[in-house]
Amino acid sequence: MSDATIADWDGDFFDEAVLTNPEPFYAELRARGPLVRLSRYDVLAVGRYQETYTIFSDWKRFVSSRGVGLTDFKKEKPWRQPSIVLEVDPPEHTRTRTVLNRALSPGAVNRLKDTFRAEAEALIDRLLEVGTFDAVPDLAEAFPLKVFPDAVGISPEGRENLLLYGSMVFNALGPDNAPRRAAMAHAPVVVPWINQRCAREAITADGFAATIYQGVERGEVNEVEAGMLVRSLLSAGVDTTVTGIGSALWCLATNPDQYALLRADASLVRPAFEEVLRFTSPVSAFCRTANQDTEVSGLFIPEGSKILCMLGAANLDENKWPEAHRFKVARKPTGHLAFGVGIHGCVGQTVARAESEAVLSVLREKVATIELAGEPVWQANNSMHLLKSLPIRITRA
Ligand code: HEM
Repeated sequence: MSDATIADWDGDFFDEAVLTNPEPFYAELRARGPLVRLSRYDVLAVGRYQETYTIFSDWKRFVSSRGVGLTDFKKEKPWRQPSIVLEVDPPEHTRTRTVLNRALSPGAVNRLKDTFRAEAEALIDRLLEVGTFDAVPDLAEAFPLKVFPDAVGISPEGRENLLLYGSMVFNALGPDNAPRRAAMAHAPVVVPWINQRCAREAITADGFAATIYQGVERGEVNEVEAGMLVRSLLSAGVDTTVTGIGSALWCLATNPDQYALLRADASLVRPAFEEVLRFTSPVSAFCRTANQDTEVSGLFIPEGSKILCMLGAANLDENKWPEAHRFKVARKPTGHLAFGVGIHGCVGQTVARAESEAVLSVLREKVATIELAGEPVWQANNSMHLLKSLPIRITRA
């Protein structure tokens, strides 16, 4: 085994100025080597495509069961009962993932496409009347907050709590800083609300949640576990798509030549969204923990090391993506890491694609131009790269 050691760096990813503008950090991380040790947090960090791919996908050496944030569940108590899909390893993971795979099957998602399309049309028609608006609350949040909880089978009351809950889940993966404390302040109200919404008696008969509860009848999970899997969808399925749609609008508003290409060719809707994901990486970083002494690229990694895997940095690695810093709707960025990779790769990616494709398809048909109507503002979040505000102006085609 190599005894080459990993160099220290005092760069602070969790500084709010870095969280809102992570690209310079990503570039320096890649330039410093395959792995660095972030001395402030005593964690390793990886940002080159190849090593990020290797560590994120190798669940045998780099486990999720010790938490995908900075907290090592072997040493510290997690803030909530850990996820029974995201924060477990096989064989546990295989059992629960089977239930989610069935609930979110391509057939189940296909059945929703007409509804997604109709909701996108209604929303964009209304926004065309207004012309100038903040695309974060009025479109990027409004659309998923309508269609996604409907698809899961959650009642309409209190849906704004879903954004507060998502903010807790994603900020909790970082250190005890201001974004984390601000998000956690909502816990006393939002956590009981979420738990109550996930119970069998609270869900509709025909959504993803109902299919998850069928896993109880099949003997795959118990009643409590089924509720926790519904919670996983609500944790992971809202802020991520809000961010994907918001970032898509930002990419198109700031690259009018690329929006013109999309308008001219409907077959670019899907690759355009994949390029948005590569270019902006809604999930900036999640961790893995080494469960044995090991090595990557000749560098020694001791057992127990937390490794911050910077998906956002890997998706901008010039060695993988020529002209990585250009947004190109026709790129077709196969292999991007925005949905993760390996056994934990996003189980909701077909839902995310269906939502975004509904929005982008309606936009390209009905909207002639999209332009900024003010400065975009990014939100500091410990594991997501997301917009707080995006003032835009749209015109009718
Ligand atoms: C653009 C939108 C989305 C992005 C960028 C995204 C990103 C990701 C990433 C990076 C992972 C891997 C985590 C890891 O390996 O540690 C993941 C897993 C997951 N995602 Fe998504 N996601 C999105 C939408 C969704 C949606 C809509 C749902 C629910 C329908 C969802 C549910 C999940 C779940 C439950 C997992 C855990 C899977 C497992 O551990 O096996 N995601 N997602």
